[in-house]
Amino acid sequence: MSDALDRKVNKTNLRGILTQLNAPIPNCQLQKQPSVDWGKAPDVSSFCGREEEIKKLTQWIIEERCRLIALVGMGGIGKSALATKVSQLVQADFDFVIWRSLRHAPLLETLLAELVPFLSQQQDIQAKPERLLYWLRTHRCLVILDNQDTLLQPGQHAGNYQPNFRNYSELFHLLGESSHQSCILLTSREKSAEVALFADWNGRVRSLFLKGSCEASLASIDSKGLVGSEAEKHYLCELYYCNPLALKMVATSIQSLFDGAITTFLQTETPIFNGIRRLLDQQFQRLSPLEQIIMYCLAINREWTAIAQLQANIVPAVYRASLLESLESLTWRSLIEKRSGEYTQQPVIMEYVTDCLIRQLATESITVQTSFFNRHILKLTN
Ligand SMILES: Nc1ncnc2c1ncn2[C@@H]1O[C@H](COP(=O)(O)OP(=O)(O)OP(=O)(O)O)[C@@H](O)[C@H]1O
Ligand SMILES: [Mg+2]
Repeated sequence: MSDALDRKVNKTNLRGILTQLNAPIPNCQLQKQPSVDWGKAPDVSSFCGREEEIKKLTQWIIEERCRLIALVGMGGIGKSALATKVSQLVQADFDFVIWRSLRHAPLLETLLAELVPFLSQQQDIQAKPERLLYWLRTHRCLVILDNQDTLLQPGQHAGNYQPNFRNYSELFHLLGESSHQSCILLTSREKSAEVALFADWNGRVRSLFLKGSCEASLASIDSKGLVGSEAEKHYLCELYYCNPLALKMVATSIQSLFDGAITTFLQTETPIFNGIRRLLDQQFQRLSPLEQIIMYCLAINREWTAIAQLQANIVPAVYRASLLESLESLTWRSLIEKRSGEYTQQPVIMEYVTDCLIRQLATESITVQTSFFNRHILKLTN
């Protein structure tokens, strides 16, 4: 600067010189540069929409100083993209930012062996929860942990950890309960038990259920060059619950099967499950037996269904308490919608479950004696 202005610039005269030049005085606090390690965070250069969610999360992180935030939603809905976008926007509020994916289910010690040295600037190599807490107290850190759901137990109610990963639950308890100045941002297809336990609107632990994004879905359609009216594009998005990944996959199929014509695709009245099936299979296979039965009942009923009706549909009879637990678990997985005591499914899920049901019935007509449906939803099929 001294060279450019041809005069000596120092700490004492900097403000005066900037005022003379009519230049804005930089706010050093806002310009703070954190130490960052983005790991395998996704590229969000074409991110769009989600203004409300960004506003809410930014407020929770910066103004309300939340300690633990879980972004929960079905596969492909945009959790990782949103977590990355928000983290980029708030990074200047932190001393350290680190992103790690839990997709390959690392043991807790492995994760801590990366977090503790990074947050302590290599001063500390003890991979222990207390050491992580110590550094989260010492500095303001943003730790993003993507895909928490891979640590959770399939085939049971949502939110419980697999035996090898129960110590993660203890860690999240510790980080949610103890005071520190940092923020842990989790993404998960299922809400975990400790987040459910601590999450309350006045507290420092929160969860945000992510629904579809119309803007992101329309962008997916446009990027694949689909042709159709605005109304058809919106209809297509709604059909797939504005799930950006589902729409990317569907748009690819529409492009290759129907030369990109949305009208022709809609006329076939056949939802496409290429790719999406794998995504939904992954989520469906994680359900407990009773959760699966409820999903089939809701798909058959096709309308908002009250608990009493669900209970009447299922034989042998199930306890009301078990039914309620399973319904809660399904909402934690973002697989059902609820409104004052009634439940239903999003269209794409309903079509998928109906499709599974038809396939399963076709298989079971060969092995009738042990039929899942004979045993469980007799009243619906009679
Ligand atoms: N707001 C957005 N703008 C543009 N693209 C988006 C947006 N949200 C999601 N996408 C795109 O949709 C796809 C799925 O998003 P993402 O991977 O974030 O989903 P997810 O909820 O994390 O899924 P999973 O449960 O499988 O981890 C990605 O290709 C992503 O780029
Ligand atoms: Mg993800």
